[in-house]
Amino acid sequence: MIVPTADLVKVGYGRFAVGAYNINNMEQALGLFRGGRQAQAPLIIQISKGARKYAGVKMLEAILRAAEEMYPEVIFAVHLDHGDEATCYDCIDSGFYSSVMIDASHEPFEKNVEITRRVVERAHAKGVSVEAELGMLGGVEEDVRVDEKHALLTDPDQAAEFVQRTGCDLLAVAIGTSHGAYKFKGRQTLHLARLAEIQQRLPGFPLVMHGASSVPREEVERINAAGGGLDPSARGVDENEFARAVPRGVTKVNIDTDARLVWYRVHREHLRDHPEVFDFRKPGELYIQAYADLIAHKSTRLGCAGRLPEVRAALGKDGPR
Ligand code: 13P
Repeated sequence: MIVPTADLVKVGYGRFAVGAYNINNMEQALGLFRGGRQAQAPLIIQISKGARKYAGVKMLEAILRAAEEMYPEVIFAVHLDHGDEATCYDCIDSGFYSSVMIDASHEPFEKNVEITRRVVERAHAKGVSVEAELGMLGGVEEDVRVDEKHALLTDPDQAAEFVQRTGCDLLAVAIGTSHGAYKFKGRQTLHLARLAEIQQRLPGFPLVMHGASSVPREEVERINAAGGGLDPSARGVDENEFARAVPRGVTKVNIDTDARLVWYRVHREHLRDHPEVFDFRKPGELYIQAYADLIAHKSTRLGCAGRLPEVRAALGKDGPR
């Protein structure tokens, strides 16, 4: 069941966050929905510009509509990840998306406000929620690369002014995470004090943590043992940090790299261990279950596992009326 993103993230404010996972193909959809059902957790399903180009806009919508029919008990929102203005309008007009992210964070403050405000007006007229971003994460996302030295933490005063002037529904904040597999050298730390300051200026307002993959060491080691070539120093966000970020207003947590790592590990190990098998459904089946297990695990760490009855009641989705 597709629900509005702004409503979904408010249900657990301060108590749990909802995982937001990117989708590119059928196997990921099956893993996501199976994982959501397994964990009894709500989901935010993210579609990036790259995914729209790879699978096709119609194909992704058809996959998700089919998954919705196959898993009627799963509650989810459909979200455009890191959109530009034109892609946001396309998604808003499609009637399929619960929310869009307008990412003008690389623009100067005033320009970011102006662009975001325009998107909010178009989106709200159609009942679509808007996530915007202030501050700059390091790493690579779609076609944008930001060096660590140019990454900028979100300024709390600016965040309050930004939300007030744009009317956006969720705000992605830069608090020390970055996109991709190579986030931190050595021990990583989130800027929780900065997050708390942002929350003070924006009490009750849903914040978003991007770049939240944990890049598990064991996963990297298994990939490399199966012939992969990842930098063994790759580190991500310590999953224990989720429990500290949630009371400070983080309601949506974006995870993509960890899903890619599971795909890479399952396929590398399968091809290594079964060189005679050329039925691609064999690793596909393994991936679907491994991905479902990852979703269930993340849901537990985010605190949203077992919350479907609560979410259903809060959103008035107690079955057909
Ligand atoms: P990761 O690269 O840490 O998975 O972050 C994904 C993300 O933030 C997508 O918007």
